Amino acid sequence: MTTIDDLFKTAKSAMAKCHAPYSRFPVGAAILADDGSVHSGCNIEVVSFPEGWCAETSAIAHMVMAGGSRRIVEIAVVAEKLVACSPCGGCRQRLAEFSGPDTRVHLCDAATGVVETVTMGELLPHSFDTASLDGAENEASA
Ligand code: THU
Repeated sequence: MTTIDDLFKTAKSAMAKCHAPYSRFPVGAAILADDGSVHSGCNIEVVSFPEGWCAETSAIAHMVMAGGSRRIVEIAVVAEKLVACSPCGGCRQRLAEFSGPDTRVHLCDAATGVVETVTMGELLPHSFDTASLDGAENEASA
């Protein structure tokens, strides 16, 4: 069984593979899916700066391409230079696509491990979701 510490260590190993020559801000992420599989990712930057992508996004891509479950149970995020790296806004929306409000997000310190655990519901309240796409929230006021 994958422990939170396993997930942290996997995220840290992924961080070591980052391509971050512009920000020099290495980040790693590791997802535990509900079939027990683990998928990691690092940030990958591009000289045209906005074209790079985050560690969480790399990890999601690995999960999807692995072909198993796409439901995230928990995710660990670690940055070399930050005590507790929290997913950026874009990654919160991407993670929400494959998780629920109770999905746990472990914010880690590269030296010591998990510093704080929050939920997706806390990170992305009032999110734009599939119900929003169907206009569910607007029907009452229409
Ligand atoms: N970064 C991530 O990989 N994940 C986050 O949640 C925050 C930011 C990356 C993007 C960029 O390569 C570097 O950190 C500095 O923003």
